[in-house]
Amino acid sequence: MTVLASIGELTVTYRRDGGKVTALRSVSLDIMAGERLAIIGESGSGKSTLALAIAELLPSSSADGRIEWPGLGRTPLLGRDIGFVFQDPSASLDPVMTIGKQIAEVARTHLGLNWSQAYAKARNLLERVRLPDPDAALHAFPHQLSGGQKQRVAIAAAIAAGPKLLIADEATSALDTIVQTEIVALIRQLVAEDGMTLLFISHDIALAAELAERIAVFRHGRLVELGTTARIVGAPTQAYTRALLDAHIGLDAAPLLDLAGRRA
Ligand SMILES: Nc1ncnc2c1ncn2[C@@H]1O[C@H](COP(=O)(O)OP(=O)(O)OP(=O)(O)O)[C@@H](O)[C@H]1O
Ligand SMILES: [Mg+2]
Repeated sequence: MTVLASIGELTVTYRRDGGKVTALRSVSLDIMAGERLAIIGESGSGKSTLALAIAELLPSSSADGRIEWPGLGRTPLLGRDIGFVFQDPSASLDPVMTIGKQIAEVARTHLGLNWSQAYAKARNLLERVRLPDPDAALHAFPHQLSGGQKQRVAIAAAIAAGPKLLIADEATSALDTIVQTEIVALIRQLVAEDGMTLLFISHDIALAAELAERIAVFRHGRLVELGTTARIVGAPTQAYTRALLDAHIGLDAAPLLDLAGRRA
């Protein structure tokens, strides 16, 4: 298996209120090409910081360590090589631009398409993310859609340039349970169809187990446990991982194990 991205001893420090907050502490992690990897951990454990570092969205002064891309062979460009889906689609979508234009813009910028080709691509993407009426949606504005529909649009924009890596940071956390399940299924399908690598970030170990082949557990900025989903769920070595599991399913790991087994 090829390593897509290799993170080595990454430490990230933010300045806050005249002091310093260390969000990541010497994290080393290989993301394998084509895998579905989940990052889990409680609020403040450094999950988003890791995602932002990988997408090169942090000021370089705050990060120490290395991120290399052997499986890409070039410096990644956000939008082209990395698709990023955030928790709140309203924050990533432009409220005064039609949905079609926002998606077409990505395809135009990174694939060199003209507007007409880019709009055709946008329409096709709206169909792929199963928006009810893709033709109408092309001309709609974000506020005319539900939260789940907006997240579908954000996903369409994220994959418009055919990125190698899709990062979903709490992409379903703001949605109700049924919509959450639908979006997870959609991400799974798109990742499989396009052969993308998935970095799925969640505080929810059950969702992570449903989607990912491997799980990395973060706590206080450290990578505390990494393994296959079946191993992490079935035989966690860290008390912290067990606590995350227990918070979900009491002492009985059987339902999650069953899930991990079925999805393997
Ligand atoms: N821009 C920032 N400035 C200062 N401190 C920050 C900044 N972003 C994050 N932090 C701090 O860094 C630590 C890690 O935050 P991060 O957002 O990466 O955690 P997280 O695991 O994504 O949490 P959540 O589950 O709430 O999204 C926290 O202590 C947080 O308060
Ligand atoms: Mg976060």
